[in-house]
Parts: sequence; C-alpha cells; structure tokens
Amino acid sequence: MPSASYVRIFDTSLRDGEQAPGASMTSAEKLEVARALARLGVDVIEAGFPAASPDDLAAVQSIATEVGREPVEGRPQAEPPVICGLARCTRSDIDAAWQGVRGAKRPRIHTFLATSDLHLKHKLRMSRAEMTAKAVEMVAYARSLCKDVEFSPEDAGRSDPEFLHQVLAAVIKAGATTLNIPDTVGYTLPDEFGALIAGIIKHTPGAKDVIISVHCHDDLGLAVANSLAGLRAGARQAEVTINGIGERAGNASLEEVVMAIRTRGAKIGLQTGIDTTQLCRISKLISRSTGYPVPPNKAIVGANAFAHESGIHQDGMIKNALTYEIMRPEDVGAMHTTLVLGKHSGRAAFSKRLTELGYPLEGDALLKAFNEFKKLADRKKAVLDADLIALAADELATVPELWALESLQVMCGTTGLPTASVRLRDPDGKIRSHAAIGTGPVDATYKAINAIVQLPVELLEFGISAVTEGVDALAEATVRVRHEEQRSSHGHGADSDIVVAAAKAYIASLNHVLSRQSTGRVLHPQSTPTEIST
Ligand code: KIV
Ligand code: ZN
Repeated sequence: MPSASYVRIFDTSLRDGEQAPGASMTSAEKLEVARALARLGVDVIEAGFPAASPDDLAAVQSIATEVGREPVEGRPQAEPPVICGLARCTRSDIDAAWQGVRGAKRPRIHTFLATSDLHLKHKLRMSRAEMTAKAVEMVAYARSLCKDVEFSPEDAGRSDPEFLHQVLAAVIKAGATTLNIPDTVGYTLPDEFGALIAGIIKHTPGAKDVIISVHCHDDLGLAVANSLAGLRAGARQAEVTINGIGERAGNASLEEVVMAIRTRGAKIGLQTGIDTTQLCRISKLISRSTGYPVPPNKAIVGANAFAHESGIHQDGMIKNALTYEIMRPEDVGAMHTTLVLGKHSGRAAFSKRLTELGYPLEGDALLKAFNEFKKLADRKKAVLDADLIALAADELATVPELWALESLQVMCGTTGLPTASVRLRDPDGKIRSHAAIGTGPVDATYKAINAIVQLPVELLEFGISAVTEGVDALAEATVRVRHEEQRSSHGHGADSDIVVAAAKAYIASLNHVLSRQSTGRVLHPQSTPTEIST
C-alpha cells in the first residue's frame, strides 16, 4: 500500500502522446517504449486505444503480456506496471479495451464521457441525465470485466462543478476505482484547477475511497503547473507524457512533473517511484520513435538544460555548482559531452560504451554501427557520446529496413544542375539505381529515390541539425512524409555527410510508410462512437 504522499505516475505517451499529429509509432516501437517506461518505474502505462484498429489492439495486447505480466528487470518496483486501455463509453470499445489488457497481471480499463455543457450539447447531443446514465451503465459494465476501472469526465475543466460531483459520485457507486479529472483543452489556471480538485474531494460522496487523478493539456503552457496544483490539492495520480507530447500543445510532461516533485519535495511533500536517472534516455527514445525533436531549451531533458554560456554563470558554476544549478545533471541522466573513442578504438570498447549509454547493440546492428563509427572517426577527431547515440539510434530503429541505401553520389555547386546518382537495395536484395537532377542536392537525391521506390508521398517536414559542435559534426536528418490517407510517417538518418543523412532519413520514412500500409484506424478517440472508421 503506497504512503499517503505517494503520487502514481500514469504515462499516456503511447495513447494521448501518440495522438500528436504525425507521432504515430509502429507496434515494435510501442513495445520498446513500454519496456523503457516500465524500467523508468511508471505505475501505469496507458498502452493505447484498442478500439481504434486491429493494429492498436494487437500493440496493447503485446504490451500487456510482454511488459505487464512478469517483473521487469531494472524496474525500481517489484510488481510490473498496471497496463491500461482507453475506451469510449460504448460496450464495443470496452470489450476491445478488455481484450487488449486482460493478459496483464494488473489490467485497467479507462473509459470516458464528456460532462461539459458545451460537449453535451454540440458533440454528444445528450442531456445531463442521459450522460450520467450512460457513464454509470458503462462503468458498471467495465467493472463486470475488470476490477480496476478508471473514469474520466472529459472537459472537466469547463464543466459545472456541481454536476461533476453528481456524475463522479454515481460512477464511484457503479464501481470506478480511479477518477481522472481532465483539463482537456488546457483552459484552467492553476488556482482554478487546484480548487476544482479540492472541491471534488470535499463534495463527492465516496471520493476519499478512490484515487483522484489529474490530466492536464498545455494549450496555455500551464499543464505542469495545473497538474502540480491538483496534486497539492489531494490528487494522487498524474497523467503525463514523456517530452510533453500529445494532442495540440501536448500534455503535462512527465519529466517536469516528476522533477518538480523531487526538487521541491520539502515544500510539496510528495514523492514518486520514478528512477529519474533514466529521464534523458527515455526522452531520446520517444523523440526517435515519434520523430518529434526535443527543443534545446526544453526543461530537464533539453540539450541546454544544464549548459552555462555566460561568463558570470560559468564563474559561479566553477566556484559552486549550486549557484546556477537546482538539479544535478546526473540525477536526470544528462550526459556531459565527453570525448569517448577515437579511430583506434576497437569493437569491444565501442560496444561497451554504447551499452553504458543505454543503447546496447548486438550482431549485425553492432557491426553496421561500428563500421559507421570507423568512417566517422576517420573524418572527425573527437567522437563524442552524442555522436555514438546518433549512430546507434539508426541501428535501433524498429521499422524494418525494406529499402536500403547502397551508395549516393551528388554533384552540386554554383554552376550546373545539382545531380544525384542513387543506388538502393530493394526488399528482395536486388540493386536498383537512378540518377536525377533537382533544385539542390537533396531535391535531386529525393527525386532519384522516388523514381526507384515508386511510392507517392507528400514531404511534410524536413529538418537537419548538427549533433555536436564544429564543421566536422555528425548531421542528423528528420523527415516526415504522408502517403495517401495514412497518418504521417517519419524517418531519421545520421551521417557526417548531410546529403547522405537526408537520404537515409527519407528512405527510413518510406520504409515506415510501407511497414504500416495495412493499418486502418480511428484518428481521434475523443470522437463520438458513430465516427469510428476502422
Ligand atoms: O484530454 C482528455 O480529456 C483525454 C481523456 C480521454 C482522458 O485524453
Ligand atoms: Zn488528453
């Protein structure tokens, strides 16, 4: 039984986070993220929305059995995490959620229905009485399947508090064990949200016997502040995502809520079970799996979160780190940019360092990454941890490498037309080549790749950045594309040549499209049941 000051961390990166435009992950990526979340020590993993599509259901099922059944190595807690599936208030959604999570040791069904007059009138076209009856019926139905049932009154932040108290009291009677209070559109201010939670605890019969949870969106940049206000008012579960990914402006960020609780523990008087030293590593994993870069100034996990640029700050840091640091970088697993390996380093040293950094590679993947490392070490004097991570990230990508880059040659400059000659290995192992001209070297390369792969996609985003400082830095390219009606797909590529990095990222995004071509899914679980489009 956790102590009264224990805050349960409910991670919804795989559900609300995955609803961010273009953030969709493959089933293999979801499983990898779920394993990392379990090791991090989250109490609950919301693994997905099983009614959305057969693929979503399968991903939740595999997380339930692979991550939610047995103790997880490296996890701070002995018990595996609770595995939760989201469902609208319909029998078919609840059945699908139960099919998804029932293989876990500690399954949970999370069902939701809006309570604000705005949603009732315009979206659900239901009266308050009809809404209450539906919520009660569906919570009771979920409870007949699963002993752990969470209910969320969607848009609680804009709902009439008195009506909210009535609905919540009724669903507690029907069997709900956790009441999650969402500020669905990120509208409330911290004092309002804190008062909403305090009011629910005070005025809802039965509220003291269940867990009250907070779920805040970041439309006004207040998601973390609102979550903390709700926790300080008595909530004991926070629904959060890694890097704050999620619908629109995102959700409250796990790392910020957890580190605020830890750093200001004496004032806040709360604690979590999270192993904070894993925060930077999981932030990178989520960024790689979703294609969402982490801004350098992002609190806790951004590249500059512990960098000190100004002379005055550097002077203070040398005298005493406490002058400008409220947390130690090692407490969140932030790495110092260390010179680690050179061109004379062997495979064993390379593999050992990658394992220390949390990127264990084996077999072919290790060999490929080592060859890339050797090429890089020939061109670049100092190979840093960040370089190694960028190389390993390419090899750890869980999207199958259907098409692969064999070679690329470009001609460009101030005269003549940029030309690219590309050789690709197709899924059957045959080599195919094509040459094309374009407005620049990347455009020419992409045209040649398109002529070979013949998969019509729209290029939505293209970004390239240097992994470390200096002109010899490794370049990391991120590409987002859309094929027909599919959700957008992303790809990542790293190389010391920026055009090669761009080509690798584009090919990876095409592989992503091809690997999920069979998937049909609901775009948005907050839609009404009739809008389902599987
Ligand atoms: O923001 C929201 O209201 C949600 C619910 C489904 C909990 O994500
Ligand atoms: Zn949400």
